[in-house]
Amino acid sequence: MDGRGSCENLKNYIVIASDHAGFSLKEHLKKVLVNLGYEVKDLGTYTSQSVDYPDYASMLAGGVSRGEYPRGILVCGTGIGMCMVANKFRGVRAALCWDEYTAKVSRTHNDSNVLCLGGRVLSFEEAEKILKIWLREKFEGGRHARRLEKLKAIERSMEKWVNG
Ligand code: RB5
Repeated sequence: MDGRGSCENLKNYIVIASDHAGFSLKEHLKKVLVNLGYEVKDLGTYTSQSVDYPDYASMLAGGVSRGEYPRGILVCGTGIGMCMVANKFRGVRAALCWDEYTAKVSRTHNDSNVLCLGGRVLSFEEAEKILKIWLREKFEGGRHARRLEKLKAIERSMEKWVNG
C-alpha cells in the first residue's frame, strides 16, 4: 500500500459504498460477498434517499489510500462519478468496469484496488459476474509493473507541484 500501512492481514476484508443510485446493487453485492466468505464493511448509503456520491467515494478511497482497507467497491448510477473521486486519492487505482473483460484487465494490467460499478447500467447478474472476476484475478506484474511505476511517479510529481 505504498508504504502507508499494510493490509496483509485483511485479505478477506472488503469495504463497499454507494450513493442512492447504487444502493440496491450494493445491497445485492453485499450478500454475494458474504456468501463468498468475505467480511464486508458497508460505509453506506443505507437507504435509497438522494445523497452525494463524492461523500461516499471519499470515505472509501480515503481508507484505501491510508491502508485501512485492502480494496473496495463503489457503486453509483454509472460508476463514473465514484471513479472520478476515488482516483483523486493517493495510491488508489479505481477502475470503472462494465463487462468481464474490463474486470479482468483492470486487475491483471492495472492492479485496480477499487472496483466501480454502475447500478443503473448493469443487471445484478452482470455486476455479480464482474465482481467475481475482479476478486479472482491477480496483477501480472512485468511490463505492467513498469507502467504502474510511471503512474506512481506522476502521482508524486503532481503532489510536489501542488504542495511545493
Ligand atoms: C445520481 O443521480 C448520479 O448522478 C450518480 O449516481 C452517478 O451516476 C454519478 O456519476
